[in-house]
Amino acid sequence: MSDHRCAFANQNHLRQAIEKYLYATSFFYTPANIIIVLLSVTSNMVMAGPQPSKADPKNIQQVQRGELIYKRFCSLCHGRNLEGQPNWHIPKADGKMPAPPHDKTGHTWHHADIVLFNITKHGLAPPHAPKGYQSDMPGWKDTLSDDDIWAVLAYIKSRWPEENLQFQIEANKNYKP
Ligand code: HEC
Repeated sequence: MSDHRCAFANQNHLRQAIEKYLYATSFFYTPANIIIVLLSVTSNMVMAGPQPSKADPKNIQQVQRGELIYKRFCSLCHGRNLEGQPNWHIPKADGKMPAPPHDKTGHTWHHADIVLFNITKHGLAPPHAPKGYQSDMPGWKDTLSDDDIWAVLAYIKSRWPEENLQFQIEANKNYKP
């Protein structure tokens, strides 16, 4: 997935950058060079730590933008008040699942940001669903920008009570790709 932002991705970039740097300077190993490499490694390791969420339920501007996007593109299935479709946990006659609520009665808040982002962008596709999984959840990558998707997630999160928000903050910390 091209937009997978995680510490591991950062570490890989970091390693590649260091390898390139070492290669470029391999004819020129002075103590000063080695110190520069060490400094850039440590500063990058600090930066690769937990990233702040890009969907911030306390950011009023982002939430307002997300609300407009939600009403236009998501509410048809997930409900104007985020209530989801009736009997959302029972498969329909066609075997597909109804749209779940995005409020505290659903399970959106069980998932880490990056999972919600990927599902919104690409639909229920691997690695978040089995290959060939049939779902009515569209992928929004051709309609919504990444910033639009983070905004709509900020709006959804702004509707969760504090305890669900806290649960999801932990889910973000514990998420392993
Ligand atoms: C055409 C109906 C439809 C629209 C419109 C729609 N969804 Fe969905 N969505 C679904 C269905 C159905 C599921 C459940 C899919 C499944 O389990 O197979 C779902 C699931 C999801 C999930 C996973 C929730 C979870 O708890 O696992 C997220 C996140 C999501 N939708 C976000 C959105 C967002 C954001 C929008 C608007 C940009 C949107 N959806 C618009 C039908 C829709």
